[in-house]
Amino acid sequence: MPDLRDQFAAAGQGHVFHHWESLDGAAQASFTAQLEAVDLPLVSRLGALLADRSAPLSPALAPPVVFPARPGAERQQECEEATARGAELLAAGKVGFVLVAGGQGSRLGFDGPKGAYEIGPVTTKSLFEWHAARIQAAGLRHGFQPRWYVMTSAANDAQTRAFFEANGHFGFDPADVFLFQQDMLPALDAEGRIVLAGPGELFLAPNGHGGTLAALQSSGALGDMASHGIEQLSYFQVDNPLGRHADPLFIGLHDLAGAEMSSKVVAKRDAAEKVGVLGLIDGALGCIEYSDLSDELRHAADGEGKLLFNAGNIAAHVIRRDFVEALTGGGDLDLPWHIARKQLKCVSESGAQEERAGVKFETFIFDALARTTSSVVLEVLREEEFSPVKNAEGSDSPETCRASLTAIAAAISGATASAVELDPRLAETAAEFTSRPTTADETPRGVVFRPAEA
Ligand code: UTP
Repeated sequence: MPDLRDQFAAAGQGHVFHHWESLDGAAQASFTAQLEAVDLPLVSRLGALLADRSAPLSPALAPPVVFPARPGAERQQECEEATARGAELLAAGKVGFVLVAGGQGSRLGFDGPKGAYEIGPVTTKSLFEWHAARIQAAGLRHGFQPRWYVMTSAANDAQTRAFFEANGHFGFDPADVFLFQQDMLPALDAEGRIVLAGPGELFLAPNGHGGTLAALQSSGALGDMASHGIEQLSYFQVDNPLGRHADPLFIGLHDLAGAEMSSKVVAKRDAAEKVGVLGLIDGALGCIEYSDLSDELRHAADGEGKLLFNAGNIAAHVIRRDFVEALTGGGDLDLPWHIARKQLKCVSESGAQEERAGVKFETFIFDALARTTSSVVLEVLREEEFSPVKNAEGSDSPETCRASLTAIAAAISGATASAVELDPRLAETAAEFTSRPTTADETPRGVVFRPAEA
């Protein structure tokens, strides 16, 4: 132990051993394992960020070029070519599916991984099951066997694996599902000192969805993709069951543009909607946080009254595998750190539980957009593709998400029940719905449509 003690003391973090003598052998062993995993030079750099009092920069901001959700006739041919290209890549098995589910879902306040949350408007279908069905639907439509990469974190990995096991991997062959973990980082107090959650336990938090890139590399997922001929990653978040993860138009536009990383966006509801927008930041593509947009720019509009900064980020991307390899290969990924100030439940030096102001550090996947030389931004319709489960109630809650799923299912099927559910493997369009054998179950909660053979 002396080595570890010296290292922490030299980094100004010697206080983590304060309760050491009170720990039994097993607790000391598990605490030692946690301490050994801490990247002390990184912790020192993060602490220095907190101490940095220099005034924030004011970069030049500009709207991005956006491919419209309803393209005019002049783009018809481009759309057809892109859709054909995307379908070709899907059919050839060149697209892998990457779900990020390592977050803590604190706003939802659900006891378990967010993906286990039951979101079906009529059934108990979980978010994970919903995503599985969408990916399988793509496999059926384009005739390939999909591979699914699921990122967890130490905060929910064991529970997620158990949930996948208990649910038969939602119909996937377990060999086609690759679960991998992102890194965790210690939270710091306002002075940059590592916070303890308990006498022998660090306060650790997932390192943000930007951690996906390094985790894809370190877990061997990138190598697995390469060995299966996967060239493009369809990246999506666990909380949006409306996401179209195998959108041939999106994949094709991205591929034909030679883009390294592309994004879907939705039009902002209005200037006041608190959502990050994609835009150019000093000339480089990125996500402009709501709070970083001045009131003037928030309301700036074009000649037709449309907001200039309107490209609401929904965190759905297509990313080229070799781009992730290039970003992570040299070990200098170095995405910017974002600081989240939180009240942390922790243990004081006297051993009492307390709440203290602290900070968590995260990197964000959209900061990789700045490293692209070519990138497509495709607008999609919110009512068709985006209704996330973020909060326990109110906006972006299970209630609003179920209503969105019902609205889509009702429009496709023509059903008029107050809750309608449509298995994505049956149909994602009205044309598919009418052309396929269907089973309809009426339940007290509503109506469910499934493929007849299921
Ligand atoms: P959010 O930023 O909405 O965070 O994540 P969250 O953890 O789900 O919820 P809150 O903020 O605690 O309420 C958006 C997506 O990114 C994933 C989440 O699992 C979700 O799919 N994510 C977030 C990660 O995979 N890792 C992270 O470190 C953070």
